[in-house]
Amino acid sequence: MPIQDVTVLPASGESPKRAREIATRLALLYCDRANTSGPHLVVGETAAWVELAGAKVAIRFDSSTMRHRRRGGHNELLGRAVGVKENRYPAVFDATGGLARDAFLLADLGCNVTICERVPVLAWLLQDAVAAAEVSVYGEVREAAGRMHVIAGDSQERVAEPHSVIYLDPMFPERKKAAAVKKEAALLQCLTQSLDDSDSLWAWASQQAVERIVVKRPLRAPTLGQAKPSHTLSGKAVRFDVFVRQPASGGSSDSE
Ligand SMILES: C[S@@+](CC[C@H](N)C(=O)[O-])C[C@H]1O[C@@H](n2cnc3c(N)ncnc32)[C@H](O)[C@@H]1O
Repeated sequence: MPIQDVTVLPASGESPKRAREIATRLALLYCDRANTSGPHLVVGETAAWVELAGAKVAIRFDSSTMRHRRRGGHNELLGRAVGVKENRYPAVFDATGGLARDAFLLADLGCNVTICERVPVLAWLLQDAVAAAEVSVYGEVREAAGRMHVIAGDSQERVAEPHSVIYLDPMFPERKKAAAVKKEAALLQCLTQSLDDSDSLWAWASQQAVERIVVKRPLRAPTLGQAKPSHTLSGKAVRFDVFVRQPASGGSSDSE
């Protein structure tokens, strides 16, 4: 699969040792200083980020933005979509890891989340971010990190744990207005070259023995696949299409 070339740079003024190690591990070109327009993976002794066209994207689960998201309302909708209830925290296989913002919210709600990301640089950044979150000064961030497990590779080569929930947030073709959207979106599009495998991801997910599949979509986007969702939960900009595959254990009605 073609993935955008990334050059590894050491953070300015810091030892290049870790940057060299990561370049070797990810089989990427190491440079002492930027000599291409990017994207660059900048690796410091305790922090790492990706830079592209002057924009910098780091994954920090204890940033004020992420801690604010915990109280944002989106997490409540997401939690209902995967079936979180009092004393019920389904294991989630997040098959489209990205920057793991949704995965963090789910882990924060109490779910054990396996995060799969096929872009090696992103997968490494996620692993690094989870390791940093495990020793965060914020207890709730440490607890959530303890429920997050990152794997690098293509989700479609994995078997999801039976009775878990598959969560899909595939790449979606950019709308005109969203051109300059968030720098994270631009970066993701560059790193993944906007490779949209949503149809085959859906076909893979449909074959798994999971309890439900949750698909995040822009509000007016078409449903993935041919099946009709069991129900849909809509927010301001996105909706969650929920496909319940079998009754939850205990036999209670579980449409939400
Ligand atoms: C829209 S982003 C997901 C954003 C994520 N939900 C978040 O909260 O940050 C989609 C991500 O899924 C990844 N992806 C797409 N298909 C994949 C696959 N088959 N296996 C693993 N990762 C995949 C892409 O590389 C991209 O990083």
